[in-house]
Amino acid sequence: MTGITSKGNTMNNILRETLATILSGTLFLCATSQGQESKPDSSYSARYDHAAVAASHPVASQAGLEMLEKGGNAVDAAVATSFCLSVVQPMSCGIGGGGFMVIYDPSNDETPAVALNYREVASGAVDRDYYVKLGSEDASRFGVHASGVPGTVAGLLYALEHYGTLDRVTVLAPAIRAASEGFAANPQLVGALRSLKTRRESNPEIRATSEYYYQHLALKGKVQVGDIVKNPDQARTLRLIAQHGADAFYRGEIAVAISGVMERHGGPITMDDLKAYKPRVVEPLIGTFRGYEVISMPPPSSGGVAMLQILGILDRRLDDIDDLSPTNPAYVHLLTEAMKHAFADRAEWLADSAFVEVPIERLTSAAYIKGLTESISMIRTQDRLAYGSVTPMPDDGGTSHLSVIDASGMAVACTETINMTFGSMVVVPGFGFALNNEMDDFTTIPGKPNAYGLLQSDKNLPQPGKRPLSSMSPTIVVADGKVRLVAGAAGGPRIITATTQILLNCLLFDMTPGEAIDAARIHHQWMPEKLYFENRWNQLQTISALRAFGHETDRTGSIGVAQLIQVASDGVHAASDPRGGGRPAGY
Ligand code: GLY
Repeated sequence: MTGITSKGNTMNNILRETLATILSGTLFLCATSQGQESKPDSSYSARYDHAAVAASHPVASQAGLEMLEKGGNAVDAAVATSFCLSVVQPMSCGIGGGGFMVIYDPSNDETPAVALNYREVASGAVDRDYYVKLGSEDASRFGVHASGVPGTVAGLLYALEHYGTLDRVTVLAPAIRAASEGFAANPQLVGALRSLKTRRESNPEIRATSEYYYQHLALKGKVQVGDIVKNPDQARTLRLIAQHGADAFYRGEIAVAISGVMERHGGPITMDDLKAYKPRVVEPLIGTFRGYEVISMPPPSSGGVAMLQILGILDRRLDDIDDLSPTNPAYVHLLTEAMKHAFADRAEWLADSAFVEVPIERLTSAAYIKGLTESISMIRTQDRLAYGSVTPMPDDGGTSHLSVIDASGMAVACTETINMTFGSMVVVPGFGFALNNEMDDFTTIPGKPNAYGLLQSDKNLPQPGKRPLSSMSPTIVVADGKVRLVAGAAGGPRIITATTQILLNCLLFDMTPGEAIDAARIHHQWMPEKLYFENRWNQLQTISALRAFGHETDRTGSIGVAQLIQVASDGVHAASDPRGGGRPAGY
């Protein structure tokens, strides 16, 4: 493993030459059998000849495919898919939130890899003591104080303008159609509406601010799976964005409505905050694993650093394990120990590197990862103080990942969030979308874990214009200058561990995306000191062996909801996690 390299530098060239040698003859470690028919492998995975989109809702995957069929590229498809997710999966992401996007364009020799940071930012009024003064843990989770200035519209339109080929009207059309003509409520939406109902019952402010969702998406509390729900207000919002671009959202009538709801309920976001929002183009983090280039997000994502650490530790110790398999206790123990180191460092060091010093280079350096690797005992887990320098976790219904590859080999890995289910539960009146509750990803009350049980340091205290630390980990794996895997997940801190495991299932265990994404997963985030096995993990002897290594183990429903695409010798294989409601599309 490796330190950081920047896009298109000599390190990449050396790597490509090495990879060309290593890989000649055996093009892909995860190649699947030749000659499969072009038909669905299952309800959630399929093989296509040329291109694919894997998103957490079938209507959104279709929106991306529509762009590819019109001649658009992977970025056009990703942007259309994301705007569509805003409508059909409003509890998980949307134009009231933010995200990260990693783009890889093999035809660009100079800078094939680029990353976009359109994470929400803290309003000018939010300083380090803002939530301490408010004195309530709920303030950063529900209601107007919970939201950061949204970045999704600015980020998606920046991506479209700089890396896409189609126009706004074309790319927004499927989302506008879904919002105006309606879409069938799936079990995920109906389930999420239940948590909105509970919160509405106990909180009059939430009752007032979420009334539109209750009327339209929840059909006045009577929605059933399969009912057609519409969002005419968001259709209007999206038409304004199609017509006037980002200015409609950040300066025009949508901005007036966002700042208006804030003012009425005493929230911090002003017109000036909205006008000042800018997405950032950043250099992706690039490391290696078993000869592959792994390209992911730098801070304020913690995902890139954490994954490069986990993969780096595994790279150095895997050869010590006999009979390597995903359920081999020694492998699961090593993976867990690597996760514990990565999450301990996450807690101590990571935050928005535009505001505080984050030692990214050191944390991902070969020397540092070697040190972590050597500190691991292969027969026993250790006291928490042995790791780097945190409560049951709620489901993360507030994030969504999408993966796209087009016929030219250009790929997009994009993870977007409004943080928790329906974000702050504040729906912008007249515009049909919920504002995020991303402020809870800051260290809002020093020493207290956030909603995901993550303890974070003072480096991640809120500050005007600062972006909260994130776990979102959109990742592209490249070999020999060509995209092999496009991956990422939803699930709070479980994003990091889920994404890492689906990559490992392909790269180490030759699984197809369908198999890799379906396989049972584990999660450890250092604190709490607990190793979670999904309920679907049925190798009970592995769990007993891990207890004998000293791990406290527990069961959990699902660890992340992932979307994975693999380029293999027989075409493009795509899979949407069966833990979510998605289905891929392609041709
Ligand atoms: N809101 C989830 C994350 O960014 O990690």
